[in-house]
Amino acid sequence: MLLVLTKDNAPTQHPFGPVSLSDRFARAMPAMNNDEVVYFGFPVAFVVATTFEQATGAAALVKVRYESLPAACGLKEARSTAVNPGRMNGGLLADSAVGDFVTAFANAPVKVDAVYTTPYQAQTPMEPHATMASWDGPNLTVHTAAQLTASPQEGIARTLNIPKKNVRIITRYIGGGFGSKLPYYFDATLAAIGARMLRRPVKVAMTRPQLFHMTTHRSASEQHLRLGADRDGRLVAYGQDALVQTARFDIYTEPVCGAARMLYAAPNRLTRHRLARLDLPRSDSMRAPGDAIGLLGLECAMDELADALGLDPVELRLRNDTQVDPEEKKPFSSRHLAEALREGAARFGWDKRVAKPAGVRDGQWLIGLGVASAIRGDVLQDATARARLESDGRLTIELAMTDIGTGTYTILTQIAAETMELPIDRVTIRMGDTRFPPTAGSGGSFGAGTSGAAVLAACRKLKAGQATGMREAEGSVTSAELDKAYAHAGFGAHFAEVGVDRDTGEVRVRRMLGVFAAGRILNAKTARSQMIGGITWGIGAALMEENIVDQRYGSFVGQDLAGYHVAVNADVGAIDVVFLDEDDPHGSPLGSKGIGELGICGAGAAIMNAIHNATGARIRDFPATPDKLLARLETLDA
Ligand code: MOS
Repeated sequence: MLLVLTKDNAPTQHPFGPVSLSDRFARAMPAMNNDEVVYFGFPVAFVVATTFEQATGAAALVKVRYESLPAACGLKEARSTAVNPGRMNGGLLADSAVGDFVTAFANAPVKVDAVYTTPYQAQTPMEPHATMASWDGPNLTVHTAAQLTASPQEGIARTLNIPKKNVRIITRYIGGGFGSKLPYYFDATLAAIGARMLRRPVKVAMTRPQLFHMTTHRSASEQHLRLGADRDGRLVAYGQDALVQTARFDIYTEPVCGAARMLYAAPNRLTRHRLARLDLPRSDSMRAPGDAIGLLGLECAMDELADALGLDPVELRLRNDTQVDPEEKKPFSSRHLAEALREGAARFGWDKRVAKPAGVRDGQWLIGLGVASAIRGDVLQDATARARLESDGRLTIELAMTDIGTGTYTILTQIAAETMELPIDRVTIRMGDTRFPPTAGSGGSFGAGTSGAAVLAACRKLKAGQATGMREAEGSVTSAELDKAYAHAGFGAHFAEVGVDRDTGEVRVRRMLGVFAAGRILNAKTARSQMIGGITWGIGAALMEENIVDQRYGSFVGQDLAGYHVAVNADVGAIDVVFLDEDDPHGSPLGSKGIGELGICGAGAAIMNAIHNATGARIRDFPATPDKLLARLETLDA
């Protein structure tokens, strides 16, 4: 054993935060700065040894005495003390109001007034969070699994009170992030501290159970949906109130209505987010933060409204489509939701849907079809790339971008080769290193559009300068290049066919189709993979993903992939993905839109709506586990 670190011998570090830092992923993340345990799973001791077995064996021998303090861990119970956070993730206002929602909703001839709940979810990337740190004099090199490079560089420097220029982050390949690797965590802090104390490299890898508390999770939500329509199915009132959780000391607010606010026209609108500060681990981004669960609520409520109106759910969505952002009043840069709905309905065989629930059987299976819209805001960030022609004619591109398994190396190679008119095999992309020009990394579906635009700019410059002997060029893109006169989002339509076992309530997703309009598709294969991945997450959200808080300890009950279920191959039926031709002249210079998170948005709602069509059961408490379906199934004829 080489080191046992506790609050008694840990070096003094910058306190957590500052909480309100504009880049929250660059906040200080001290470990064992004091003896306060702020949530379950918070590190209290750290052991370094020459083997993993020695380290974990020694860690198990550490005796800790705890003094209990009062804690609040229930979301529902905190409803009355929840606060208005003012602003949320991405700077969105927590509240929005247009027209007179209260009056319009009260007078609407057809209404839905329902509360939906979604559970705590975990990102659970296949590759757990891990860091190896080493020092060379004052210089710290951190090999870590991270979606971002600039933020952890700044954050680790802040934590250790050293200059940012002395910290180098290296993150070449990442085995999945889904938001959980936007922040850096105690593995990075402790590896850096341990390496400095021991004067040798130190590697820290979280175990799978540690991920569930030491990294972030998606907040649970309680969503109050109020939709009012005229008898033709035109929304006159749209209301969505969300209650979400953040850690006691934090401010992250899951933006449940972020994209939902842009989805349908309705002259009178009211959306609100309230934040419950609980003694639980930190909530933060998980694939399509806010939108993934906000659309579960809204798109299921739309299905309820279609039911109340006696109107086809595809037709209801078409009637409420809009080419203008209904709250910001800006035209969309491009929006082909209606086309996606129509194309999907035709391809899926929607005309064969039997509107009356529980009307189709296949042996013991009750069969149903469901639909939901997809929307995800499209943004651009700042990034710079360097392009260099080597003496042998090869092209090298360098930028501090990451590839979290999304195919970034591939598409940047394509963009560079195409722009420079070189064969693909003459291009080398070097990423994941703070020594390269800065980018915004991978997150918020902006990775490809942003880093690709920087590569495009660098290559265009180099191409133009080649005749005059230019060998190296830097090119940049900024967030301002997204034309602010327009609203920006990608769109799509999900269709699902489920079978529900009439005796056990087991739900099988037989087939799904997603039709998307997301600007220029940079690579058909990697884009399709992103969508299939997102849709698969929709299956998890609808049917299995759920973490439950043990109120005694403020811990999550599910701490591994046996206790926290995600969709696996056997849960996934046939998934088909179609991209509509779309070129967006007002967004990324590439004409592309973000796609990494569009596929999950709405997918789970399509499944839930198919379950309703199959059985008549309206499950408003995600996920639709068999126990929630049994009462309804017992009312059906054998
Ligand atoms: Mo994404 S949840 O912004 O990595």
